[in-house]
Amino acid sequence: MAYADDEFWRKYRVWATRSAYRHMDAYRRVAGMAGGGLVLDLGAGQCEIGRTLTGWGAAYQPSDATPKGDEAIALDFSDLDALSAVIGEAQPTRIISVFALDVVLPTEQSSEVIRACMAHECVREVVSAGFYYNDERRHSRSVEEVGGITSYQVQARTNITGGGLVETRLEVPAASEMFGPSVVEVWRCIKREE
Ligand SMILES: C[S@@+](CC[C@H](N)C(=O)[O-])C[C@H]1O[C@@H](n2cnc3c(N)ncnc32)[C@H](O)[C@@H]1O
Repeated sequence: MAYADDEFWRKYRVWATRSAYRHMDAYRRVAGMAGGGLVLDLGAGQCEIGRTLTGWGAAYQPSDATPKGDEAIALDFSDLDALSAVIGEAQPTRIISVFALDVVLPTEQSSEVIRACMAHECVREVVSAGFYYNDERRHSRSVEEVGGITSYQVQARTNITGGGLVETRLEVPAASEMFGPSVVEVWRCIKREE
């Protein structure tokens, strides 16, 4: 499995460092400045981007299907019972997932996970970042990525609405050496309707 490949993570780390300003800017534009409380990160990987976004020193709980480091807990976000148990226990105020939920699952399915998160009163918002290629691949649901990973592209016109929820999307062109010139990052923020 490519997510277990050290070479993927080495390249990803260089890319993440170079992209840090863009990611912080997108996160703040879509989610606003961080409030207090605990941030739960789904599919946190090496936790680098999650930490950058939430601020060093903030209450931050990374999770991953294959946790890296001591800090992260084991959690498969597609297991909704396990996800609910973790949320019930940790009582996060925000949940983030950066290039994980919306990359590993098709958008309709990741939206179900987001709805399950928002069913917990303690969760004020979910921010999930995914992407699509703004080229001939736009119309495929999934694409083959660097390192033999299959990733899903965020589908157009699949915003979450109804059930008291509202989604804001921010699209950010994000050319890079690692992923090529036509990537558009999609930052989704789901909150309760006011
Ligand atoms: C592209 S990496 C993103 C890592 C991190 N969020 C970041 O942006 O730096 C995708 C991560 O999702 C994790 N992952 C894949 N499937 C998962 C699942 N079903 N539940 C939880 N994590 C998963 C992988 O182990 C990997 O760490």
